[in-house]
Amino acid sequence: MLAIDIWRIIPAALVCASLWLSSIQQVSAVPVRRATVLPQNDPFYSPPAGYESTAPGTILRTRPVPNKLAAFSLLPQNLANAWQILYRTTDSNGNAQATVTTVMEPHNADPTKVLSYQVAEDSSYAACAPSYTLQQGVGLDGIVTQAELLLMDAALDRGWYVVTPDYEGPDSSFTVGMQAGHATLDSLRAVLASSNVTNVQANASVALWGYSGGALASGWAAELQPTYAPELKILGAALGGTPVDLNATLQAVNKGPFVGLVPAGILGLASQNPDLQTYIDSILIPSKRDAFYKAKSQCLAGDILEFVFQDINTYVNKTDFLNDPVAVKVLNENHMGKYVPKIPLHMYHAIHDEIVPYPPAQALYQQYCSQGVSIDFTTDELSEHAILLITGSASALLWLEARFNGTPVTPGCSNRTVATSALDPGALQVFGELIFNDLGDLLGKPLGPLSIT
Ligand SMILES: *[C@@H]1O[C@H](CO)[C@@H](O)[C@H](O)[C@H]1NC(C)=O
Ligand SMILES: *[C@@H]1O[C@H](CO)[C@@H](O)[C@H](O)[C@H]1NC(C)=O
Ligand SMILES: *[C@@H]1O[C@H](CO)[C@@H](O)[C@H](O)[C@H]1NC(C)=O
Ligand SMILES: *[C@@H]1O[C@H](CO)[C@@H](O)[C@H](O)[C@H]1NC(C)=O
Ligand SMILES: *[C@@H]1O[C@H](CO)[C@@H](O)[C@H](O)[C@H]1NC(C)=O
Repeated sequence: MLAIDIWRIIPAALVCASLWLSSIQQVSAVPVRRATVLPQNDPFYSPPAGYESTAPGTILRTRPVPNKLAAFSLLPQNLANAWQILYRTTDSNGNAQATVTTVMEPHNADPTKVLSYQVAEDSSYAACAPSYTLQQGVGLDGIVTQAELLLMDAALDRGWYVVTPDYEGPDSSFTVGMQAGHATLDSLRAVLASSNVTNVQANASVALWGYSGGALASGWAAELQPTYAPELKILGAALGGTPVDLNATLQAVNKGPFVGLVPAGILGLASQNPDLQTYIDSILIPSKRDAFYKAKSQCLAGDILEFVFQDINTYVNKTDFLNDPVAVKVLNENHMGKYVPKIPLHMYHAIHDEIVPYPPAQALYQQYCSQGVSIDFTTDELSEHAILLITGSASALLWLEARFNGTPVTPGCSNRTVATSALDPGALQVFGELIFNDLGDLLGKPLGPLSIT
């Protein structure tokens, strides 16, 4: 029991401490130091004229990341190299779009292995994109993404290249599934075409990983790959806390600690749906409009603090506003399960997930199984949403490692229920390594395998 309690307490304490730190930073009189130009003011993010006619995944521009990548925006990471690539992708309406992906090369890198890690950005503001928040000196508003750098470090320590795309695109279209899927797939196309800059081999093996908002992007990428990027060979995807049904999350978080996800999600959806934008503007109560729109100028931590325990229905003058046909249409379009992945999946979900409810993820698992997808699905009994990000990470990493090592996937579906994924076979050893290496990584240890095998 002791081990289990610790796994419940440590991450919760970390999240609380992080929120506390970021709240101090927000209220303090000292302005947040911005180490670098905000994406919305940075010409690197603007595509060159005529880029629309290039193929999806075309590299438009590259540069070394302007600042060191840093854990919690403070502690610089000792990578061999890190670059940003501006590339062409396609939004959910089929229009050309350009967004940025960050490519991290560890020391002693294996240029035949690339992990695409989609972060839980969960915000609708350009300065929350990982290409920006992972840099040193940008403040703590992107704290969750910044914490996920520690999971990316675990992959880098295995010698894999890690790439993390700004999959929400230039309009920060949080929760738009097709946007996220396209941008994730085109990031891989761009990275595989970047050999003369990054040394990644054009035929490198690739895999996907994401939790929560990152699982939305990874899951949509898996669903869209057979039609949108059939030439991409992806070994598999690890999806944790997968937001299959946005409405379920809206209902689950209202009046709780995580209400801030709702305005960010609605404004994210509206950014690619003019009808929804018009509708929301027509029902927002004037005195509450500015507060609602704050979700367009702050990241997840700021949104959580702004809206904590509020009822989102008090922002609008229409009862049951999500049941309007405009809203229903958008929620349905962004429900996962319309397309069938061809790649194997490792899914993990907390049965008591208080943010992304379990039943839709379980239903998706069963639907995909009946459609022939190979999946192993883990139900975790003790973890909550933020906790499973951490407790489920070791098994996800081991599953991804098996894919990169060429271990064949058992065809078909299997599922299991565990008290906590933290006690999975092999997990404790991975956590030991993770803690040991991550502490070293925080202190500037070179990221990467110590020797090439
Ligand atoms: C890499 O190759 C592309 C396409 O051939 C070229 O446009 C680009 O300048 C090259 N970059 C470097 C750094 O050599
Ligand atoms: C991948 O490409 C490299 C060089 O470009 C080549 O040596 C290697 O055999 C290729 N690997 C596979 C699996 O095709
Ligand atoms: C709701 O608010 C909007 C925007 O402020 C306003 O135009 C509209 O008349 C209001 N509707 C009702 C029924 O109060
Ligand atoms: C959202 O969920 C609520 C509660 O389960 C339900 O009443 C409503 O019809 C759902 N709306 C949509 C668009 O699915
Ligand atoms: C796990 O598999 C069993 C047998 O195949 C099935 O009855 C059960 O519903 C599955 N569990 C979940 C969570 O889908």
